[in-house]
Amino acid sequence: MSFTIAIDGPAASGKGTISRAVARHFGFEHLDTGLLYRAVGQRMLEGMDPVEAAQALRAEDLDPETLRTAEAAQAASKVAAIPDVRAALLDFQRAFARRAGGAVLDGRDIGTVICPEAEAKLFVTASAEVRADRRWRELVAAGFDTRFDDVLADVHERDRRDMGRSDAPLREAEDSTRIDTSRLTVDEAIAAAIAAVNLARAQIGG
Ligand code: CDP
Repeated sequence: MSFTIAIDGPAASGKGTISRAVARHFGFEHLDTGLLYRAVGQRMLEGMDPVEAAQALRAEDLDPETLRTAEAAQAASKVAAIPDVRAALLDFQRAFARRAGGAVLDGRDIGTVICPEAEAKLFVTASAEVRADRRWRELVAAGFDTRFDDVLADVHERDRRDMGRSDAPLREAEDSTRIDTSRLTVDEAIAAAIAAVNLARAQIGG
């Protein structure tokens, strides 16, 4: 039986951490769909045509370590605005969502475009300042020499691009549960997400 948990939200809202924990809790597989766009963005930086890169993408190309840079993120949000890139990545994401045993997908358009029929939908958000602070700490911890102001500018720019594009813009699905993580600890945010999924399961069950 398949059960899809769609988790959307803006850059560095905490959706990756929540998605991994939710997947672990329920024993589901997890797909970070941002990695698909980051991998295509990285190929574009290397000179490849983004549509061709999306069509040729393989699971082995999704190495989170090499794709976590700010450059890959910016390039990702540029290629993500190209409809043919999004179309090339659609089938893979839908097949993953319907895999037996349950799936968690996190991204920008999972509950709205990729899996509008998902059994549970979460929208994870936080203020731009809190999100930039988290991402800045992550980058510094990973050894990158980054200024907070640059990270905040990057967050604002990607928000603008992700919400403003005409194809699959980032927006909250009407039937999603909103979790604002600005004032929550990681454990509190995870608990809120698990509670929302359990509620959705109970509603389906009866
Ligand atoms: O981790 P972070 O939130 O910073 O970014 P990400 O989830 O890795 O996504 C990088 C970029 O890919 C985003 O800024 C979006 O432009 C794009 N993306 C998208 O358009 N649709 C998705 N389902 C996932 C990511």
